[in-house]
Amino acid sequence: MRDPIGIFDSGVGGLTVAKEIAQILPNRDLIYFGDIAHLPYGDKSRSAIQEYSTRICDFLIAKNCNDIVIACNTASAFAYQTLRRKYPEVNIYNVIDPVAKYVATNFKSESVGVIGTKGTIGSRIYPKKIKAIDDSISVKSLATPLFVPLIEEGLFKTTISKAIIKKYLSVKSLSDIKCLILGCTHYPMIQSEIQEYYKGNVEIINSAKIVAQSISEYLEPQKGVSGSMEVFVSDTTTAFEKNARRFFGSKINLTKVDL
Ligand code: DGL
Repeated sequence: MRDPIGIFDSGVGGLTVAKEIAQILPNRDLIYFGDIAHLPYGDKSRSAIQEYSTRICDFLIAKNCNDIVIACNTASAFAYQTLRRKYPEVNIYNVIDPVAKYVATNFKSESVGVIGTKGTIGSRIYPKKIKAIDDSISVKSLATPLFVPLIEEGLFKTTISKAIIKKYLSVKSLSDIKCLILGCTHYPMIQSEIQEYYKGNVEIINSAKIVAQSISEYLEPQKGVSGSMEVFVSDTTTAFEKNARRFFGSKINLTKVDL
């Protein structure tokens, strides 16, 4: 019986997580859902995100997914508990807990930064989760809402991306951090530019890698299948298609569905 891993995000960001999972578990089938019709999630209300996430989970469960990865920090912050209560028979994973654990273990008594959408940062979920494990860590948070549209448009490694990165990251509150958590699954796509900005003085925490590593410990490596990747979207844009193909190659198959 086919048993794919369901992965979802508002757009291409969750592909950073899907790619890491595909690398660690090459024999598992993956179904990715990009909720392009409702992108960006970062500006939406908690109830809207819960509603979108529930519809996506219904869709993925109908496709036989018993494991679902919320590959989006905003949906992890706003909808994880709701989804766990609604689908007790499904294993649901969020992208925040593994990163909070990693940072709390490796940066004791340090000052750490986190950047993300307005929703994620406004929820204060990172400071809450990190401090619940180790209260000696000081967490500096900054909403960086222009990064998602920039990435969805594929405008990385341009003068625009460099200027926006500089504008955001030069704020005084982030000046003494030892590491910076990329608290949005889109952001690994501009990781090298962020790294360049810090000139190696700040460790950049790519949540996609940490999350995939942590989740893969709970997932069976093989379920007698081929390691395929199906991508569903709630709307189609050429930017999404281009980004998705850049990530997974031209064999990727996009299907539009109305949820
Ligand atoms: N990639 C998402 C996140 O991790 C959502 C970004 C957005 O749609 O605003 O928060």
